[in-house]
Amino acid sequence: MTAGPAVVKLRMDPQRIRQVLDNLLTNAAVHTPPGTEVSVMVSAAADCVTVTVADTGPGVPAADRERVFDRFYRVDKARSRDRGGSGLGLSVAGSLVRAHGGTISLGGGPGRTVFTLTLPAAAR
Ligand SMILES: Nc1ncnc2c1ncn2[C@@H]1O[C@H](COP(=O)(O)OP(=O)(O)OP(=O)(O)O)[C@@H](O)[C@H]1O
Ligand SMILES: [Mg+2]
Repeated sequence: MTAGPAVVKLRMDPQRIRQVLDNLLTNAAVHTPPGTEVSVMVSAAADCVTVTVADTGPGVPAADRERVFDRFYRVDKARSRDRGGSGLGLSVAGSLVRAHGGTISLGGGPGRTVFTLTLPAAAR
């Protein structure tokens, strides 16, 4: 994890935002082969903070990238069920992030998954 020296104040429910990050990190662990590299980056701008959780696993096909935020949506249903996933994590994460006035999106490509989370800085 890398972070600059900037101090940023966020108005947030830490337990809920932790739940969001937990889901992204758990996803990076369970939906990728063992040994996959996972990186977390935090950057701060004047008006928001951006957290990126990226891994070098199989990636999510472009056609599925919007739908992974839908309730119960799993890309590979048989495989995900083996891993106990219900397909709810990202839908809950999306709701929590929106409730904070932030955004969450999925990018990447074959061999790379990148989730980007933004949270607005508290008004001074
Ligand atoms: N890092 C990732 N690499 C590859 N596929 C992913 C990754 N993260 C999520 N996915 C895909 O997106 C789907 C939806 O993720 P989500 O977190 O909503 O559900 P889940 O992990 O299957 O179950 P739950 O989080 O409810 O236990 C996953 O089933 C998986 O197919
Ligand atoms: Mg999950």
